[in-house]
Amino acid sequence: MTIASAASKVILLGEHAVVYGRPAVAVPVSEVRAWAEVNTILSEEGICIYAEDLGRSFRLDDPPDETILPLQEAVRNTLRNLRFPIEALSLEIRLRSRVPMARGMGSGASVATALVRAIGKHLCHSIDAAQASALVFQVERIFHGTPSGIDNTVIAYEKPIWYRQGEVVFLRPGEPLHLVIGDSGTPSRTRDTVAQVREKHRADPAAVEALFDEIARCAEAGREALEQGNPITLGGLLSENHALLQRLGVSSEALDALVMAARRAGALGAKLTGGGGGGCMVALAFEEDVPAISEALAAAGAQSVYYTVVM
Ligand code: MEV
Repeated sequence: MTIASAASKVILLGEHAVVYGRPAVAVPVSEVRAWAEVNTILSEEGICIYAEDLGRSFRLDDPPDETILPLQEAVRNTLRNLRFPIEALSLEIRLRSRVPMARGMGSGASVATALVRAIGKHLCHSIDAAQASALVFQVERIFHGTPSGIDNTVIAYEKPIWYRQGEVVFLRPGEPLHLVIGDSGTPSRTRDTVAQVREKHRADPAAVEALFDEIARCAEAGREALEQGNPITLGGLLSENHALLQRLGVSSEALDALVMAARRAGALGAKLTGGGGGGCMVALAFEEDVPAISEALAAAGAQSVYYTVVM
């Protein structure tokens, strides 16, 4: 039996604009992970996949649907990449995830990364972060249509990154970042909000490009504040970025309420994270304020609250 896992992520600054070539900053959430377990089985069954959180079990060659296709493709791409003949293998693959689905924390990329790593390990081929990222990017294309590539990159390397059009810079926070993540409880597919933004961009390119430039400014200034260990400036930029995402039309009442609750409880700044339209928000805090912010988020309706420290 072989097990591998992968982190989830939050985008600190720059979502949506990053799809249009602007820079963004993302960090891994190492405490909230997905796992894949691979066993060789003695049967002619081929490759069977049990996705516990989806309540689905299926074979690699089953007719695909929207839910299982990305997972089937992750397996196929990995085996192709390792030059293993699919027909020669009888495997049982179990997937488990604590990453909430369709909430902006990269659940799809996280599960796919764990899966790719576990298959590689099981077949005695170590898959490095660059390979995992590239394999998962192909899967992300099925999930999201036009992914920027930031999710698969931050998850595969499990390090804070600055990202622009495939260019990656690994960041070292000057001070540990204390992040509190609140889940609004409403699922929202990244693909849908990306399409919504595309429509807005098509209708008024100049206005939306100007918003993207403002978001890019937040991301660049935020990168500097993060590296210099200046959480007050970084927090302010998170809140500024949230206001720009509101103007882009990807926030929701529930997300705005959580952002407000976190700020009232002492957060240095807060914003929605990921595609928006639902899903999660993230607040930056001083360590001593984390319990009060977590309580305030729960009281304001967060379905789950996560805490992570990024070093
Ligand atoms: C999704 O986590 C972030 C978006 O910017 C989409 C992408 O970058 O592919 C909304």
